Amino acid sequence: MKPVRIGVLGLGTVGAGAVNVLQRNAAEIARRAGREIIVTRASARDLQRQRNCDTQDIELTTDPCQIIADPKIDIILELIGGDTLARDLVLQAVANGKHVVTANKALIALHGNEIFDKASAAGVMIAFEAAVAGGIPIIKALREGLSGNQIEWLAGIINGTGNFILTEMRDKGRDFADVLAEAQELGYAEADPTFDVQGIDAGHKLTILASIAFGIPLQFDKVYTEGITEITRSDVAYAEQLGYRIKHLGIARKTGRGIELRVHPTLIPERRLIANVDGVMNAVLVKGDAVGPTLYYGAGAGADPTASAVVADVIDVVRVMTSDPENRVPHLAFQPDALADIPVLPMEQVETAYYLRLQAEDKPGVLADITRILADHRISIEAIIQKEPVAGETTLPVIMLTQKTMEREMNAAISKIENLATITGKVTRIRVETLG
Ligand code: NDP
Ligand code: HSE
Repeated sequence: MKPVRIGVLGLGTVGAGAVNVLQRNAAEIARRAGREIIVTRASARDLQRQRNCDTQDIELTTDPCQIIADPKIDIILELIGGDTLARDLVLQAVANGKHVVTANKALIALHGNEIFDKASAAGVMIAFEAAVAGGIPIIKALREGLSGNQIEWLAGIINGTGNFILTEMRDKGRDFADVLAEAQELGYAEADPTFDVQGIDAGHKLTILASIAFGIPLQFDKVYTEGITEITRSDVAYAEQLGYRIKHLGIARKTGRGIELRVHPTLIPERRLIANVDGVMNAVLVKGDAVGPTLYYGAGAGADPTASAVVADVIDVVRVMTSDPENRVPHLAFQPDALADIPVLPMEQVETAYYLRLQAEDKPGVLADITRILADHRISIEAIIQKEPVAGETTLPVIMLTQKTMEREMNAAISKIENLATITGKVTRIRVETLG
């Protein structure tokens, strides 16, 4: 059988990684796919730039459209990123009858509904394992391995850059900006790193996971996102004193009232495995009604781990490219006409527990005022730590853990607490999940 020909759009961290793995493991890959798979063409902006892969036998161009128009190319790897040019290129590839493998979560989260519709109509596949959690085969696990379950909830550390920053800050006391620069140097960060640190990248990934888990359309605009930029070393230390770790989590949960879709820093009991996932590693905890809790762990970013997922997709596509399109695994796990219109809950209606830190005057009655406000909103306190004031200061930090309450009640309580004359500055609030 003649080899399958691949055209790679983008030869950066992931593109070069994918070329390397396809070349290095070519013999094993051919044994698995049943056909030889070769990269014959690739594009990048700057052809003078040194590449981290061997391009000797690859025809290079600065124009990705040439590759998409080439009738000899069977599969396109979209490894450029972003959601404008990438969308145009992928839609054009689909129109030209080519299968596409992408690592681009922004593209899938924002335009996946449209792209999958067009791909299905054209009888081609869009594969995107690398778009979520780097090298962890979480899409395959959710879409195929757990397909007998009703998924109840999932929670994941799904941004490698963010977890790397939090770990280095906690373990080595390093500065945020310094660790972010290292993550960029290592090729972990997005082209715009605010996507990593403000929770947008994790929001894109959560959109995809939730869609596959619950059989709902992709709807990034409904995801609540909060990043890691406001986390302080003192919060990390207080959390540890209380027996918790702070992790940046994406959480999707099906409740009787609707689906929760939220990304934010979270206190997790330190005994949980996921609380001990450090550095660039990612982990996703999935709770199915039949299987119970399952945990998936691995590198969340970087050239080779991401290439592992890209190449697995290429092999999957090659195995079924000659099969009847009707009988392929649906892009979003559920049949396209069976996607459900389940409401996504606004954040105000989400129920969770909270860690609160506030700066209070060191005088009698202050704590009573705070607890009264919380009681007025039916918020129960689980634990309180009141620190000694630093010498020469008249205020002291008060740290509290509350039981579960509706976010709306907590918002109202926090705004009343901040209005007390005895409280200085803003109340820090971090959500708490036991993940039991
Ligand atoms: P890079 O920035 O390292 O590489 C992007 C590549 O695309 C470069 O080769 C660049 O060319 C080319 N490119 C950029 N803009 C254009 C353009 N306008 N026209 C043509 N070519 C262009 O990105 P990554 O490899 O890190 O990421 C690629 C995709 O993979 C993104 O969607 C990202 O979110 C995703 N991803 C990344 C992971 C990672 O660990 N880095 C992990 C999982 C997913 P040139 O080199 O000449 O500048
Ligand atoms: N910037 C992303 C991260 C790349 O750090 O997780 C992997 O999707």
